Amino acid sequence: MLSNLSRMHFSWTRNARASFVKTRSLLATHRRHNSHLPPYGPVGVARALADSSTTESTSTTLFSKEFALPDKVALVTGGNRGIGLEAALALSEAGARSVYCVDLAKKPGEEWEKVQSFAGRTGLGNLEYICGDVRDQEGMWKIGKKIADREGRMDVCIAAAGIAHPGSSLEYSAKDFQDVISVNLNGTLFTAQAAGRQMARFGNGGSIIMIASICGSVALEPTLPSIAYHSSKSAVLQMARSMACELGSQRIRVNSISPGFIHTRMVDALVESPELRRHIERANPLGRFGRPDELRGAVAWLASDASSFCTGSDIIVDGGHRAW
Ligand SMILES: NC(=O)c1ccc[n+]([C@@H]2O[C@H](COP(=O)([O-])OP(=O)(O)OC[C@H]3O[C@@H](n4cnc5c(N)ncnc54)[C@H](O)[C@@H]3O)[C@@H](O)[C@H]2O)c1
Repeated sequence: MLSNLSRMHFSWTRNARASFVKTRSLLATHRRHNSHLPPYGPVGVARALADSSTTESTSTTLFSKEFALPDKVALVTGGNRGIGLEAALALSEAGARSVYCVDLAKKPGEEWEKVQSFAGRTGLGNLEYICGDVRDQEGMWKIGKKIADREGRMDVCIAAAGIAHPGSSLEYSAKDFQDVISVNLNGTLFTAQAAGRQMARFGNGGSIIMIASICGSVALEPTLPSIAYHSSKSAVLQMARSMACELGSQRIRVNSISPGFIHTRMVDALVESPELRRHIERANPLGRFGRPDELRGAVAWLASDASSFCTGSDIIVDGGHRAW
């Protein structure tokens, strides 16, 4: 009898234990699958399944939540014009509360002021301008801290400040080389640090986007030599991968965008020379220069939850230049 009881007890304990282990493992699996869900819950098929028992009308999330940047704060260098300004407006249109454009000029240019006024008239968030030099590490860290102290957060960073000095590699001067490296490479690091330190401080994660170039992966034909530019952009690609690996555990994602030829003031000289213009247009399957606004989608995607599993990647937007 006693032995029957003890067998029953043993069997009950074994079953209870098995059931406990199974429940714990199901919970762990559930937690594993859901631990990185956005604050607004499951999306896509998981949301459709979770919602399947109700007949009430509901709204979709792809553009209202995943691609949106409500309440987010961003720092954009090179934001006075060109790709930086385009990126700043894209972040605003995606719902960012405040976007801070950092650039060399003491006061923003006419183009920037018109964009700020457009943002105001269309009810977008604040577009602010700060005079700053990306080559100044301490200065950039102070700018990052000042923005984060004022806003109570830092979510998105776009390092777009850049310069290019053409020149043949055998004659390229040490000074020109240093100038390009200190803006395009040191400046990108100091910008990422300025924002990244604040992202780490607030613990909300974040997205750092470095504007590299196709010139970081392929050297251009001898008609457009610029050893410093090519080298700096190649280093930016590796900088993004390296920071991505280091900062992933803090949910800070770091990616780069490699544009092909985009018509901004940086390439005015190329556009104005009929021969060079034709040469560059023929270098991609779409047969043209890109417009800065054609980077808006990649910027909004990388900045937002829509790319939440993407880090250490380079997104190529080049009209197919690298495809042939
Ligand atoms: N236009 C293209 O075809 C192309 C292609 C690939 C990559 N890019 C990259 O995109 C980024 C933006 O270039 P863009 O085409 O808009 O050129 P742009 O010349 O119109 O804009 C560059 C901006 O960076 C600012 N800047 C330069 N040095 C700075 C410094 N020390 N501190 C702060 N700001 C500084 C400039 O004042 C300017 O407003 C650059 O990194 C560039 O290398 C451009």
